[in-house]
Amino acid sequence: MIWKRSAVLRFYSVCGLLLQGSQGQFPLTQNVTVVEGGTAILTCRVDQNDNTSLQWSNPAQQTLYFDDKKALRDNRIELVRASWHELSISVSDVSLSDEGQYTCSLFTMPVKTSKAYLTVLGVPEKPQISGFSSPVMEGDLMQLTCKTSGSKPAADIRWFKNDKEIKDVKYLKEEDANRKTFTVSSTLDFRVDRSDDGVAVICRVDHESLNATPQVAMQVLEIHYTPSVKIIPSTPFPQEGQALTLTCESKGKPLPEPVLWTKDGAELPDPDRMVVSGRELNILFLNKTDNGTYRCEATNTIGQSSAEYVLIVHDVPTTLLPTTIIPSLTTAPVTTTVAITTSPSTSASSSSRRDPNSLAGQNGPDHALIGGIVAVVVFVTLCSIFLLGRYLARHKGTYLTNEAKGAEDAPDADTAIINAEGSQVNAEEKKEYFI
Ligand SMILES: *[C@@H]1O[C@H](CO)[C@@H](O)[C@H](O)[C@H]1NC(C)=O
Ligand SMILES: *[C@@H]1O[C@H](CO)[C@@H](O)[C@H](O)[C@H]1NC(C)=O
Ligand SMILES: *[C@@H]1O[C@H](CO)[C@@H](O)[C@H](O)[C@H]1NC(C)=O
Ligand SMILES: *[C@@H]1O[C@H](CO)[C@@H](O)[C@H](O)[C@H]1NC(C)=O
Repeated sequence: MIWKRSAVLRFYSVCGLLLQGSQGQFPLTQNVTVVEGGTAILTCRVDQNDNTSLQWSNPAQQTLYFDDKKALRDNRIELVRASWHELSISVSDVSLSDEGQYTCSLFTMPVKTSKAYLTVLGVPEKPQISGFSSPVMEGDLMQLTCKTSGSKPAADIRWFKNDKEIKDVKYLKEEDANRKTFTVSSTLDFRVDRSDDGVAVICRVDHESLNATPQVAMQVLEIHYTPSVKIIPSTPFPQEGQALTLTCESKGKPLPEPVLWTKDGAELPDPDRMVVSGRELNILFLNKTDNGTYRCEATNTIGQSSAEYVLIVHDVPTTLLPTTIIPSLTTAPVTTTVAITTSPSTSASSSSRRDPNSLAGQNGPDHALIGGIVAVVVFVTLCSIFLLGRYLARHKGTYLTNEAKGAEDAPDADTAIINAEGSQVNAEEKKEYFI
């Protein structure tokens, strides 16, 4: 039994050793990706090695390193680490032609190998935008092309206008002369309008070799368009004698300047009172004769545009003269007239806010006297009503209490108490109500 068990144990341990040996006795490598011009490190590991030699060779099957001994004369290739467990080498200033399958060999019998693929990324050049000829007229079709060469794999191009991505673009990819990298281009077609003037169009190239910092090209658009004109008056209600400023707001590219003012299709009739400065027309002291249609005209190299403003000079509101109104109106409106004579602009609000009686005294002894009498009469009436009310309330209370006392005549004591209590409650309620 004991022998049997130990034999079984020995059997397993031998199997384990064999398994471990075969598992560890082979080279391990990993694929490597490097950006063109960078440094690639190729590592080959052997977990269990009984002093067997390791070797790295390139895609052309040339030996680069045999253990720690350099085999190929290339200063870009250097030894990083050499031991029985590892052979690591570095390739600096990697070029696209270095791409391919590298082999690590372990010289057991037979030789065991492991492949590592070296991928070299081609960095896209700074993109260029073509197709913009300045200036462009509004309504024209614009075709911009953004191009970048040297990317491997082919780079991605995206367009942005005012930070908003434009999706509908044409993408084209072609192989470069080296047959390894690509030239990619993207074309953007759109009809321009005035809102595109001054807008920055950005072409953005994203690529894995760029480390999350994309390459960009920018084109600021310049769109020429006919002027648009608008007249803005300084006041919505021009009155005789006031000054009025009309501002001619004109947009356009090139900027239309100066603007031309006319009245009823002719020159401004009174240059002394109608002064044009820049985009503004200032009319000093409006007169009824200034009524008419004022026109502002703006012209640039593309075209012309105009706007019109119909001026109606309103009367100064002088209709509410105090002398014409006082005799025909009673006390309250008279105070309104007083308010108007002191401050015409706030007449409406002041008349509605003020208590007519409070100002009555100012308008002469007659009104004061009438007011006083009315006040006294009203006061006396109010006092009488109040006193009468108090008197009636007290009287009613007494009457109800007496009625409660009358409950003594009830047929039995219970009824008497119920009657008395009910009435008392009623009396209390009524008293409270009347006082
Ligand atoms: C490996 O080589 C070292 C000396 O470099 C030696 O000491 C060791 O015994 C060798 N091991 C085997 C398994 O041959
Ligand atoms: C290494 O790269 C080669 C070639 O691109 C590929 O076939 C293989 O699957 C890659 N191996 C690993 C472990 O990624
Ligand atoms: C308006 O113009 C007329 C004629 O030019 C003039 O007689 C009149 O006094 C002016 N009125 C005012 C309020 O300036
Ligand atoms: C100007 O317009 C006002 C308001 O319509 C009118 O009362 C006035 O008579 C007009 N004056 C002239 C000279 O047309």
